Amino acid sequence: MNSQTVINIEKLNKAFGENHVLRDFSMSLKQGENLAILGKSGSGKSVLIKCIIRLLALDDGRITVLDNDISEMSPDELDKLRARVGFLFQSNALYDSMTVRENLEFPLRRHWKQEQREHGAEEAIIEALTDVGLEHTIDMMPAELSGGMRKRIALARTLILKPEIILYDEPTTGLDPVTAREISNLIVSVQRKYNASSVIISHDMHCISITSNRVIMLIDGTCYATNTFDNLRKSNDVRIKDFFE
Ligand SMILES: Nc1ncnc2c1ncn2[C@@H]1O[C@H](COP(=O)(O)OP(=O)(O)OP(=O)(O)O)[C@@H](O)[C@H]1O
Ligand SMILES: [Mg+2]
Repeated sequence: MNSQTVINIEKLNKAFGENHVLRDFSMSLKQGENLAILGKSGSGKSVLIKCIIRLLALDDGRITVLDNDISEMSPDELDKLRARVGFLFQSNALYDSMTVRENLEFPLRRHWKQEQREHGAEEAIIEALTDVGLEHTIDMMPAELSGGMRKRIALARTLILKPEIILYDEPTTGLDPVTAREISNLIVSVQRKYNASSVIISHDMHCISITSNRVIMLIDGTCYATNTFDNLRKSNDVRIKDFFE
């Protein structure tokens, strides 16, 4: 594998019973690249990124993440890899019974040694909250926050471990257009600050246009086309044009 490649997927197949969601899906993500995956609802976008960090097992094919074949990793090795690959869930997955501080401490408890936490946790929490512009919410509960704020807190929790790769699952879905734009701009500023590589799963065309430098069209479970957003927009292919109308 090319050392510049941080994720490589070869002929991934994933089915649930008769529902063959991904068929021979292949892609690679280069270091520093921001790759958007565009597909209709139910096309398998969430399934795909869950396979990348093995929250779902693949049926067939090969996925390599940061030089590790994920199918061959022990639970312990996978846990360590997941600290290097941040995942922003479509549903945010914040703990409702914990404050913002406790939500951000959670990954540190799992991945940092106690001594490291004692010396650096508070600083790391404040830095991550500052990155998303929400330092003042540190003692609040998720229920006290708006949808856009909860998305920002979920992003802060992803950033706190300074991941090398960030996987965003529908970062703007369910938000009003103004808040969606704010989150898209935040993703761009996070990309600049951390120089992480990212996969952005979305059907929000504005979000994709400003956050990605390449787009994959996921159609019929496979990589139907890949190009820059601007080149895809000019395509005459009916199935691609559908997304831009
Ligand atoms: N754990 C599961 N068990 C069975 N079927 C599943 C499971 N997860 C996903 N599916 C099925 O896989 C298909 C793809 O689902 P997925 O959630 O990846 O879609 P998506 O592209 O993320 O859609 P959306 O844009 O609405 O989030 C759907 O038909 C869904 O019903
Ligand atoms: Mg989804």
